Amino acid sequence: MEKGKMLYEGKAKKMFTTEDDNVLLIEYKNSLTAFNAQKKAEMEGKGVLNNLISSTIFKFLTENQIPNHFLEKIDDNHQTVRRVEIVPVEVVTRNITTGTLCKRLGVEEGMKLPYPLVELYFKNDELGDPIITEDHAILFKWSSKEELDQIKEITLKVNSLLSDYFKELGIILVDFKLEFGRDSEGNLILADEVSPDTCRFWDIKSGEKLDKDRFRKDLGNVLGAYEEIWKRISSRDE
Ligand code: TMP
Ligand code: ASP
Repeated sequence: MEKGKMLYEGKAKKMFTTEDDNVLLIEYKNSLTAFNAQKKAEMEGKGVLNNLISSTIFKFLTENQIPNHFLEKIDDNHQTVRRVEIVPVEVVTRNITTGTLCKRLGVEEGMKLPYPLVELYFKNDELGDPIITEDHAILFKWSSKEELDQIKEITLKVNSLLSDYFKELGIILVDFKLEFGRDSEGNLILADEVSPDTCRFWDIKSGEKLDKDRFRKDLGNVLGAYEEIWKRISSRDE
């Protein structure tokens, strides 16, 4: 796999071209950011763990008929993906209330929601990814009604699959963020990553946080939490 030109550097990943126009190489970085990169750190070993975790979860989603960009894990820090045009709408699904939902609306922390809450955010770092409605996305042509319906349907399926997957590992999937893209044929597919950077995971028994909230809230042992998630995921296939 030839590492070509760098197309893009984000907060947690770099993206490179390859010899195949439809295939990109993603490098998982050790950088951790929070609050739209106002808080930053380097954490040796994070890139390797997120590459392992996200690759394994995308493989599981592929086995469960969720169309997605993942192709192959190449080495410790790299994976190949199908090239997509990213839909500039981030999709957050919440099963339990916490985070910005509680800050924004003043609702109680830790309430189990009767059904998953799906929220849309405009993917724009300069604006700090503001929350939007479906109409904003349609009116400003970030997506279409049909695409948003499909996005919501896939998102709810992913929520159901991953909630069960993690429950078996003794973990509550509290909330998570997904991104979607359109491939060269215009098909809508799941993109980006699924990892402790983009999900909230709570240990079922102790309630311990096993995700990036340990960094956001200065709880310590951030890498240990990511390692614990990988330990449980990898134990599943043994
Ligand atoms: P929030 O409560 O901070 O809005 O986060 C909701 C979920 O989305 C949580 O699992 C973390 C994830 N998330 C990201 O992956 N990227 C982001 O930029 C933000 C704000 C949240
Ligand atoms: N991903 C965002 C950032 O890097 C926000 C977050 O995850 O808290 O700033």
